[in-house]
Amino acid sequence: MVFDHDLLAEIKSRADIVDVISSYLNVIKKGRRYVALCPFHDDHTPSMDINKERQTFHCYVCHHGGDVFTFVADYEKITFSEAVKRVCEIINFDDPRLHKHEVIKPVDVDVQTLYNCINELQKFYEYGLQIDEGKPALDYLAKRQISREQIEKYSLGYSLQNGKMTISYLQQKGFSLKNIEDIGIALVRSSDTSDSNAGRLIFPIKNSNGQVVGFSARKMTSGDDAPKYVNSPTTKIFKKESILYNYHIAKQSAKHDGYLYLVEGFMDVFALDSIGISSSVAIMGTKLTDKHIELIRRLNVEIRLCLDGDKPGQEAMMKIMSSLDKAGISYRVVSLPGEIRDPDEILKQDGEEKLKVFVKTLVDPFNFALNYYKNISPLETVEDRKKVISHFAPMLIGIKSKLEYEDYIYKLADVTRFNANAIKNFIKEYKADNHDKTDKSILIDEPKYEGINVSRELRRLACAERQVLELMANDKDAIDFYEKNIGYFNIDLHRDLANYFVEYASKYNSVDVSMVMDYISQSDNPNKGKLLYELSAIPLHKFQKHELDEILNDCLITINEERTKNYNRTNIKLALEGKSPAEQARLLDDYIKRTNEKKAK
Ligand code: CTP
Ligand code: MN
Repeated sequence: MVFDHDLLAEIKSRADIVDVISSYLNVIKKGRRYVALCPFHDDHTPSMDINKERQTFHCYVCHHGGDVFTFVADYEKITFSEAVKRVCEIINFDDPRLHKHEVIKPVDVDVQTLYNCINELQKFYEYGLQIDEGKPALDYLAKRQISREQIEKYSLGYSLQNGKMTISYLQQKGFSLKNIEDIGIALVRSSDTSDSNAGRLIFPIKNSNGQVVGFSARKMTSGDDAPKYVNSPTTKIFKKESILYNYHIAKQSAKHDGYLYLVEGFMDVFALDSIGISSSVAIMGTKLTDKHIELIRRLNVEIRLCLDGDKPGQEAMMKIMSSLDKAGISYRVVSLPGEIRDPDEILKQDGEEKLKVFVKTLVDPFNFALNYYKNISPLETVEDRKKVISHFAPMLIGIKSKLEYEDYIYKLADVTRFNANAIKNFIKEYKADNHDKTDKSILIDEPKYEGINVSRELRRLACAERQVLELMANDKDAIDFYEKNIGYFNIDLHRDLANYFVEYASKYNSVDVSMVMDYISQSDNPNKGKLLYELSAIPLHKFQKHELDEILNDCLITINEERTKNYNRTNIKLALEGKSPAEQARLLDDYIKRTNEKKAK
């Protein structure tokens, strides 16, 4: 299926490639250019160049290239049309034309059955809150100040004491014991298969599309040694480490709010919701996984860490901070010295106003870490104290303001108990050691034309073809010139690309490399990847009319000379006479290949 040209053009006009790629990668602005670590190979220096003007990207090392849609398709390993929709999601754009071609995906029958089964179960749990037996659960929720609206918004439920009821309910709805086991709520036993969530409050866990995929069930008693939460085990549809609680709701509001709060638990999400903050997700514990990072990066908003103020919470915060640092995601930390409660406890004990103030008490990572070493986990050994200095060195050498720099140094001196001058000297040395390195690492070679595998005699021809192709990518006049005077290229790749330009120009009377890329992406050309890379590597340059004509004519002369040489050498000229340009090209290619093979022997 092919999307409408105008629709793709409209999406592109809204989806800036730098913004979209920034929602996946840490994009660095280098003068007028944008670079990033290439996600398509193991990259250590930013080798991926993003061209904002042309709205394309390409990697000099692994030769991946394309436009905004092909980037998303390749990164997420999805089809072109799925990528078009994903880009629309990212930029919050919708259009009826997007759904006109809705592809009917062959649904995985097994997975669909599990969804049906878990949806039924979800209804059953919600029903559990509405009957008499569910009264204590409702009271519990009320005691925890969870409103009626929230019960509905988060689809909370209650699982009946008698866990066998759950099983027979699902069986009576047509699901097998195997299905029931596969959604992760019971182990099938010969006599007494029973719901492991029985007698508990139910927090359904939804994936990023809002589909329930698992449950977390909280006990309502205290003082016994039953675990506080029973979580669904890993199943075909549920992996706790790749889900952020409330992501399906937060992803909508975060774009608008410009931030996303990261909290520990369900109760904290509810607490933030009651003071009007919908953009929060719970990591359901304290471990931030790579998958979580991928999900939050996609939103491309400021992350606000808001973990419990107790020691384990603050330790977790430090770990999460270093994961975010490594991932190049920017964030601030909610931190009020001396406050050890979580948002839910603050809300309950001190009320909404207090929580509102608390969540706005944001400190930068540096100050948070300093406070951590000062008050929570003081530095003991010299090694530890040195580590802190090394940790902040990269950040310190980037500071432009002298006053700010001094401020940081004195704070660091206070915490690490090193003399301020000693720290300054250390930073100076660090800078000297690393200055060269860092600069080089971001320096990228200008794109080189890599001669396509052609013999020496053909290189002149290939270069001339390439030159014309580059002009065609920048100027409609060059396309006309090609059609009128050159007709075909001898190198497969060049000819393919030229044909796409000609086709596009004849329809839209213009040239647009990034739109041509979409043509190629949607075609079934087996050489797609290579073609996209070549296009993305073409430099952007528009010549004056007289210069353009001059270069084109020079190239034409070269091309004709080289072709004649080749014809003469083998009498192939005869074979070509009277043939269509396409047929001539094919014969020539064939001939070139054979000569190359002969040479190789
Ligand atoms: N968690 C879990 N299993 C546990 C304890 C915690 O899966 N035994 C997860 C839950 O997702 C929980 C989050 O870690 O929401 C944070 O834990 P905690 O702060 O202990 O729970 P709260 O949600 O704050 O619950 P409550 O306030 O009712 O104690
Ligand atoms: Mn809590």
